[in-house]
Amino acid sequence: MKITMIGTGYVGLVSGACFADFGHDVVCVDKDSSKIAAIESGQMPIYEPGLDQLVGGNAAAGRLSFTTDLAAGVKGADAIFIAVGTPSRRGDGHADLSYVYAAAREIAEALDGPAVIVTKSTVPVGTGDEVERIAREARPDLDIAVVSNPEFLREGAAISDFKRPDRIVVGTTGDERAINAMQQIYRPLYLNQAPLLFTGRRTAELIKYAANAFLATKITFINEMADLCEAVGAEVQDVARGIGLDNRIGSKFLHAGPGYGGSCFPKDTLALVKTGQDHETPIRIVETVVQVNDLRKRAMGRKIVKAMGGDARGKTVALLGLTFKPNTDDMRDAPSIAIVQALEDAGAKVVAYDPEGMAAASALMPGITMATDAYSAAQGADALVLVTEWNAFRALDLKRLAASMNAPVLVDLRNIYPAAEVRAAGFSLTRIGDKAVDA
Ligand code: UDX
Repeated sequence: MKITMIGTGYVGLVSGACFADFGHDVVCVDKDSSKIAAIESGQMPIYEPGLDQLVGGNAAAGRLSFTTDLAAGVKGADAIFIAVGTPSRRGDGHADLSYVYAAAREIAEALDGPAVIVTKSTVPVGTGDEVERIAREARPDLDIAVVSNPEFLREGAAISDFKRPDRIVVGTTGDERAINAMQQIYRPLYLNQAPLLFTGRRTAELIKYAANAFLATKITFINEMADLCEAVGAEVQDVARGIGLDNRIGSKFLHAGPGYGGSCFPKDTLALVKTGQDHETPIRIVETVVQVNDLRKRAMGRKIVKAMGGDARGKTVALLGLTFKPNTDDMRDAPSIAIVQALEDAGAKVVAYDPEGMAAASALMPGITMATDAYSAAQGADALVLVTEWNAFRALDLKRLAASMNAPVLVDLRNIYPAAEVRAAGFSLTRIGDKAVDA
């Protein structure tokens, strides 16, 4: 199949490279010429394990190419995927669809024959209808089908998620040619037993939001249980294990922490809330999840101040990890941003180290000092806070860290350190959802 991918952001680049790896002929298009030039020279615009080899290998094999010329990229394609950004619109939280609609029009204008247009960007219910209207208006002469094919990949595990998905969701309006094209495109996966679920187009659009909102709700639920554990003297990790072993609940996404961040959960929960309000069907659970999560991120700052004895003025706090989760350089809606803000408001000075996120974090938070590693971050600090659970932080020499600090206070916001070891190293310890804290 000949596939064109519009947008070389996270989803577009990973999907394009994976489709090429399946043996399809893929052209990736992006307006940003410096981005295209960088990718062609082997510089990936994002940090994602294995992506550079996948792109390089498939480009060398002649199955994957890049261009800034949308019209040229679209010519002769069997399917054109729209994978452009859908940021939250400033002010009202709705997804901004201007890039999607602009792409739909440009694609249609450039088409030289019948084609299937596939929206892969996360788009609110009804966007497919509008994409179809725009495309037909631009090219009434052509047979165009518009399909929704949401993406469920996780940053940091995107390639394996793409190649071994739990399911592939395809929403159509029943067009046979579109269904056949999507079956051909995903053939290598459903031969691997991945269920290919065909639904209505609006349904597919909603599935994506429902999945993310459900996972965000699950995390928020266990986060609130963590707060209750602290209040009543229980341990949230055991609560998570105890409920997660019930198959109806499941053990995943029950890790209590500083609140969810990233490019999907915050944006998609907000967009679902807006869709519900627009249709006079408020999704109250998700509205609450959004509020609770926002408050939680700042509350983590107060938790750190409390661990330091209640006064942060003139003190130095060292943060380990800044990105919203490990194995990414993505800082979007990272809990660290609200934590830093709260600490600075409380009068503290912040020092931080992150394996991949410091460049993006410096631009967002110019007031913090970046350290070259975990040990230099901790040097002379009044508290050490584990914010993001990078593997590199799991095997640190805790004794060395404690000895180098002004006050050996450890706040573990991901519960990765065994309490006994931390205390044996000389630290006082604060965890999430565990009454057994020293502060
Ligand atoms: C998510 C979805 O998993 C993916 O299917 C969707 O397509 C995009 O959004 P991603 O944002 O890459 O993927 O990260 P994910 O691993 O899901 O984590 C999201 C946030 O939730 C992170 O901040 C993470 O730290 C937090 N989280 C996750 C928890 O706090 N506890 C958990 O148990 C799981």
